[in-house]
Amino acid sequence: MTRELVQTRIAETFGMLPRSGWPSALDEGLGELTRRLAVDEAEIFRRLANNAELLRDLAAYLTIDESHFLRHSEQLATLVEALAQNIEAGRRAVVWSLGCSRGEEPYSVAILLRERLGAAAARASIAATDINERALAVARRGLYRDWSLRGVPVELGERYFTREPNGVFRLDATVMAAVAFEIAALPQCLAPRAAQSVDAVLFRNVGIYLDASALETVYAGIARTLAPHGLLLIAPADPAPPRELFARLPGEWSGIFVRRAEAGSAVVDPAGGFASLAVAPDRVGVSPVPALASSSSSPPPKPSLPPPTGSRVEPVAVPSLAPAEHHEVAPRRAVVPPAGPDEPSLAPADEQVRRLRCALYLNPQDALARFRYATALQRVGQLAQAKSQVLCLTEELECLAADVVLADGKTRVARLLNAVLLMRASLP
Ligand SMILES: C[S@@+](CC[C@H](N)C(=O)[O-])C[C@H]1O[C@@H](n2cnc3c(N)ncnc32)[C@H](O)[C@@H]1O
Repeated sequence: MTRELVQTRIAETFGMLPRSGWPSALDEGLGELTRRLAVDEAEIFRRLANNAELLRDLAAYLTIDESHFLRHSEQLATLVEALAQNIEAGRRAVVWSLGCSRGEEPYSVAILLRERLGAAAARASIAATDINERALAVARRGLYRDWSLRGVPVELGERYFTREPNGVFRLDATVMAAVAFEIAALPQCLAPRAAQSVDAVLFRNVGIYLDASALETVYAGIARTLAPHGLLLIAPADPAPPRELFARLPGEWSGIFVRRAEAGSAVVDPAGGFASLAVAPDRVGVSPVPALASSSSSPPPKPSLPPPTGSRVEPVAVPSLAPAEHHEVAPRRAVVPPAGPDEPSLAPADEQVRRLRCALYLNPQDALARFRYATALQRVGQLAQAKSQVLCLTEELECLAADVVLADGKTRVARLLNAVLLMRASLP
């Protein structure tokens, strides 16, 4: 196999979207594998042709494993309350963290459950899987640097972590015992799971790295695995799951979806599920959910019609980005970037929002497109939607190295992130 073929095979097998950082990450992975297996690179390429495990190990070097404890904590609070109520009612509470990285996510659920239920938290079952064995090894050791604890309130930190002499933090043994880790690659790992065997899936900050076809398979697999009314949690930057399968929980941005009962079938709710949670109304109406209000959450919903003929998506200039590379906090005022020269100045602002929304729909990974969309929303006063896009962008950009160059070939991540943080400070 050649380098190019290996990258293609990884993209196809695991549904991963190629990124600009792949060539250097591939070098690192190949270097480590040649050392570990004590063979040269040519032999690695030879073995990769028919060794699925080796391909998976190499693919792991191409992923982003950024995570921290209590990430999107308001979401976790909703999840934990629902799980706790299930447990208190004598029902099942089975959780799966899909793409768990170094364990911060499933351990956060375990910590919050313990806070809410005490010893009864042990009745929850928490599984966590990832393609990256090195990340899982960190999870199993339970040793973390302070960066992983950046979202943890002091008193929780004191209760669940012990500072070791070398400055790392050791996680509480009871919390560690609450989570079972396993190496597993998407999308293949979904099929073997029993149908309706899980009550909540955390699939946060993973879907953003997968292509559309893999995402379709993964969301269908998650739907099959979840109990009816089971919960799916995604992050602000993640593509939303299909409406036929999931209904959105209300809230400006909740990122929580409820597994719909099968269309036309009786609801089978064996032991789990969260039937009591109210779901956001939706147009599809497969489950007993009334008709729909448009949602403000990101990414933007699929437009119901393609853009009319002749109104192709216009290129719109990137609003001017703040020059500094540091994250200064702006005074609380509206940041309205000036219109660029090729911006369709005659189009009404709402039309521009529509076009930018279409542009983002066509290329949801494009951070600059999301920034343009957010600034247009801010201009027309749709501040909640603008904020939702800005939060999503912040998450996306924080996962990238500061000097990565974006799609326009000149803007670096640090510069856009700076502009995004300025904008975020100006939004209510
Ligand atoms: C950015 S981290 C997110 C961690 C955690 N879910 C969170 O939100 O903090 C993405 C994780 O997804 C994993 N991942 C990416 N592609 C995967 C695949 N095809 N199969 C399994 N895991 C994958 C990566 O290894 C990485 O640990």
